[in-house]
Amino acid sequence: AAIEKGNYRHFMLKEIFEQPTVVAQTLRSYLRPLEQQVALPQIDFDISGVDRVTIVACGTSYYAGMVAKYWFEQFARVPVDIDFASEFRYRQPVLPEGGLALFISQSGETADTLAALRHCKAEGQTIAVVVNVPTSSMAREADLLLPTHAGPEIGVASTKAFTCQLAVLAALAAHFAVKKGRLSPAEEAEIVAHLLEAPACLNAALAHDEEIAAMAHLIAPARDVLYLGRGPDFPLALEGALKLKEISYIHAEGYAAGEMKHGPIALIDEAVPVIVLAPSGPLFEKTVSNMQEVRARGGKIVLISDAEGLEEAGEGCLATIEMPSVHPLIAPLVYAVPVQLLAYHVAVAKGTDVDQPRNLAKSVTVE
Ligand code: G6P
Repeated sequence: AAIEKGNYRHFMLKEIFEQPTVVAQTLRSYLRPLEQQVALPQIDFDISGVDRVTIVACGTSYYAGMVAKYWFEQFARVPVDIDFASEFRYRQPVLPEGGLALFISQSGETADTLAALRHCKAEGQTIAVVVNVPTSSMAREADLLLPTHAGPEIGVASTKAFTCQLAVLAALAAHFAVKKGRLSPAEEAEIVAHLLEAPACLNAALAHDEEIAAMAHLIAPARDVLYLGRGPDFPLALEGALKLKEISYIHAEGYAAGEMKHGPIALIDEAVPVIVLAPSGPLFEKTVSNMQEVRARGGKIVLISDAEGLEEAGEGCLATIEMPSVHPLIAPLVYAVPVQLLAYHVAVAKGTDVDQPRNLAKSVTVE
């Protein structure tokens, strides 16, 4: 049956709102909540022997991979090498013997990613694939298929596929950590419990849709927008900037908050809105001090944080968006929602073709 927009104005908005459902669906296929255990379907080799992971992807899927690098290294203590598929393929990467190469793709057909996959296969790597289209080339060529259950994604700018990729990668990181003996059963149960909170937290984030729509006019006139984040939320800053570029055609850059002083700070003035992603937690104070550097130069800040973070640092911001308080593990999933909604509403305010942005394709099948 044809996929309809229903009551939504665009597929992108419909897909943003589907996230609690599809993330829950995806998590259900990886986690067994009753026994509080992390299960991975179709895993027919022993991941405990893997000492290094190579992650390769493009676009939004690449940013999901960047988040996974933080998780795999933090929880499983397994080093991760990550690259854009178009770079990876031609830089003569050094691949460990018996290594695991992990490819992330919504479509499973992106030419650069597929070429990188075939290269790794020829080099004897075990091929794991996080993919949304189960009949795709990548799904067929994988040794280990890790499906996302986002359903068909029509909007060119990826949204629900991204959060489902994060859900699978978080489950995989936990599984990996267990197999590496890095998590006690109690810690594992705690991680699973936090993951299972993700759909409700996504709903809480979505409740800010109207408020974000109302603040879109503050961003729409900007020529440049800067996004800042730290740790696993740094890739979310990159993803926020990518979303805004893709559909509103405003130039945007994502930066690691602490790196701003080495360049982008020179761009800050009243005309450059700075979107700060800062869940409260161990990295919060550092990010807030970077935010103060922006403020001292007249920069206009949109702070996305939880009640605690906003209480501490929300004053004097151009706008704030309150997220639920979440475990750092699921923050990247939850903070995806406000950056998607902000890009969406700014694009709508500018009157661009949200679902079919100029010059972009849903699936890029040329190298
Ligand atoms: C295109 C799409 C992006 C997507 C990227 C990678 O550029 O417009 O939304 O993130 O391809 O696609 P994949 O299907 O491999 O995830």
